[in-house]
Amino acid sequence: MGTEVTLVKVILVGTLTSLLILGAERVPAQAPVPTDEALISGGRQLFFAKCAACHGPNGKAQVGAMANAADLTRPQDFVRGNGDNNLSNTIQNGIGNSMPPFKAELTESDIMKIIAFIRRLQARAAAGAAQF
Ligand code: HEC
Repeated sequence: MGTEVTLVKVILVGTLTSLLILGAERVPAQAPVPTDEALISGGRQLFFAKCAACHGPNGKAQVGAMANAADLTRPQDFVRGNGDNNLSNTIQNGIGNSMPPFKAELTESDIMKIIAFIRRLQARAAAGAAQF
């Protein structure tokens, strides 16, 4: 009798554990939004210096001078993808004649900071925030 109860417990615990492991392994649809404030504020400075002239300070590209720059808060419209690797690639190599390549002036760590800031912009826009 006691053995059967133990066996049931072992099976239950085993099942729950594997469910937890399976759940944890599920790949998130969107890269997690970074919360490291130092990283994000470093990214904000770089973004203002290198990107905001075309993409606008809030990423929405409502800049008269550069009407066709991508709205960075609408990743669903990106033609080259919104994963960290995609963004890094876009920033390093640019796009055609309209978006300049930055690999000569930004380090990989700079680019990671900028991506963290873009994630913040996207999260704020998704949450409907007016201020960034
Ligand atoms: C000289 C203006 C200009 C600057 C500066 C600029 N961009 Fe762009 N960017 C563009 C334009 C224009 C597009 C749209 C290109 C296209 O789709 O042909 C674009 C597109 C993008 C896209 C979307 C790519 C896709 O997959 O559709 C991302 C992301 C992006 N830029 C990020 C950045 C970041 C980050 C910086 C700063 C490091 C930056 N841009 C600086 C003009 C600029």
